[in-house]
Amino acid sequence: MSHPIHVLDFHPDTHAWRQEVWEGLQKPQKELPSKLFYDERGSQLFEQICELPEYYPTRVEQAIMETHVKEMTKLMGEECLLIEYGSGSSQKTRTLLEHLPQAAGYVPIDISKEHLQQSAAAIAAAYPDLEVLPVCADYESDFYLPKPSTQAARHVTYYPGSTIGNFHPSEAIAFLRQIRNICGLRSDLLIGVDLKKDKDILHDAYNDRAGVTADFNLNILVRLNRELGADFALEQFQHEAFYNEEAGRIEMHLVSLCEQTVRLDEHSFFFDADERIWTESSYKYTLNEFAHLAEQAGFKPTKVWTDPERLFSVQYLTPAPIRQP
Ligand code: AVI
Repeated sequence: MSHPIHVLDFHPDTHAWRQEVWEGLQKPQKELPSKLFYDERGSQLFEQICELPEYYPTRVEQAIMETHVKEMTKLMGEECLLIEYGSGSSQKTRTLLEHLPQAAGYVPIDISKEHLQQSAAAIAAAYPDLEVLPVCADYESDFYLPKPSTQAARHVTYYPGSTIGNFHPSEAIAFLRQIRNICGLRSDLLIGVDLKKDKDILHDAYNDRAGVTADFNLNILVRLNRELGADFALEQFQHEAFYNEEAGRIEMHLVSLCEQTVRLDEHSFFFDADERIWTESSYKYTLNEFAHLAEQAGFKPTKVWTDPERLFSVQYLTPAPIRQP
């Protein structure tokens, strides 16, 4: 039996970010939202990052998944509805789906309708008994879930890749609460969380020798030039990434190599030599820190899997009373 695929489309406004860009560039510490990395070229560069020898998260997370998938899917239960935030190519999900032959359905959520249609079709072809219910939405905004034709015993949201680390902690709490609201108060969460570790390992992961991360970072300016008509001189900006130990995060910046003015619409943005645009934060947590964060969103870790070197974790969170900090 194969199910027809219908995309539930919330028509995410992918161009609403002009305002965010203006606001970010007007701040005393200039900043740009890291979600702007992921245009077509940026998504390709990110896939290349995931293959780099220095970028351990993807490899280590996948190894954890493969080692413990039976235990994970046992917790999820056979008839669960699997919901994936930011599903992209849905590659990582296959490890889970292999072990969930009775799943009530799979709901991939992505902002790019074209990618979503392609990957949903590929998943449906690989798992003909699975009902695939794609949702095209900006998962940080409001949307609702489609109803599978089989009643699900439980909802489980999958959020791999430590993308949660790209939110500041207070935003991460708000985002996890929103997942709880959208996916239901009885919804579990399987989430990848990158861990605190040796600074050199972190530094190398975001300063790869092939320069792919630098291209990924600079691509945000290419995008602003192309899509918003800005006039950033790319050779006058340089990639920078470092671990801010006090804040527990990698920070990525673009450093202006000289005094310069950049134009965007009727606005001019002046840059001093050495002035930075903050483009991304990637928070790293201890297991205790993340448990504390999750509790403030109304989740508790019931099971945590890590690799032998404790570089990365995959955590199974279940609903719990919200705990105030
Ligand atoms: C998507 N996200 C979890 C990546 C990270 O490690 O924070 C994005 C990335 N930035 C530079 N390299 C990878």
